[in-house]
Amino acid sequence: MRVILLGPPGVGKGTQAKFICDKFNIVHLSTGDLLRQAVKDGTEVGLNAKSYMDKGELVPDEVVVQLVKDRMAKPDCANGVLLDGFPRTLNQAVVLDEQVKKINTPIDVVVLLFADQEEIISRLTGRRTCPTCGRNYHIKYLKPLVDGKCDDDGADLIQRPDDKEETVKNRLVVYEKITKDLIGYYEKKGLIVSVDAGGEIDQISKDILEKLNSR
Ligand code: AP5
Repeated sequence: MRVILLGPPGVGKGTQAKFICDKFNIVHLSTGDLLRQAVKDGTEVGLNAKSYMDKGELVPDEVVVQLVKDRMAKPDCANGVLLDGFPRTLNQAVVLDEQVKKINTPIDVVVLLFADQEEIISRLTGRRTCPTCGRNYHIKYLKPLVDGKCDDDGADLIQRPDDKEETVKNRLVVYEKITKDLIGYYEKKGLIVSVDAGGEIDQISKDILEKLNSR
């Protein structure tokens, strides 16, 4: 199965991606995670990407497309993949179409998550992340067992630099101006299923599963 998870920053793509990938035994391919890893590793791609990410701007298409092509070529993606945060521009979507055509593995479904902007801002500004393993928490909705520490490895949780309120607002503007065009693109292909992501995490997972199973 090949799934695209589409929706604004902070709507819960990463949270639901984990659930879907565990359920269907497919690879979670998050361009945000790949880029943050490149930043952490200090690679040329990472150094280049950081300045865009810190401002909440999109990293240039050619950089992101290459990361995705390399990752999708790995053998573990043969069983299926969930694309989280990619594509984000029409150009990226066209390149992805060409790529999946070449390897004869079409996209099966695009899950579109939506929620109120106020809820999204509260989710992002309250998110805390483990710098070691990348696990996400929330100061109100998903607290760690020990305040400020990761449940898995005990590392001190941090706030992602792009989760500061001003940057969050810019990320939302970028989504509205650029990424939202992809909804029409995939609607025309008949691939979109929409899920209200404004409620409880478990209920959203159930709704996604129901929609995926009924296709
Ligand atoms: P990326 O990492 O992809 O960020 P994003 O799309 O902005 O999404 P987030 O990871 O911030 O949010 P999410 O929807 O996954 O929400 P989450 O589940 O964590 O991209 C970062 C940057 O990288 C971009 O700005 C750009 O610069 C660059 N980039 C990435 N891909 C690119 C591309 N293709 N092209 C160009 N540039 C690219 O949830 C958020 C919080 O809410 C968490 O704390 C969570 O615990 C909580 N939460 C989740 N669901 C619920 C719920 N139902 N109720 C209450 N709380 C909830």
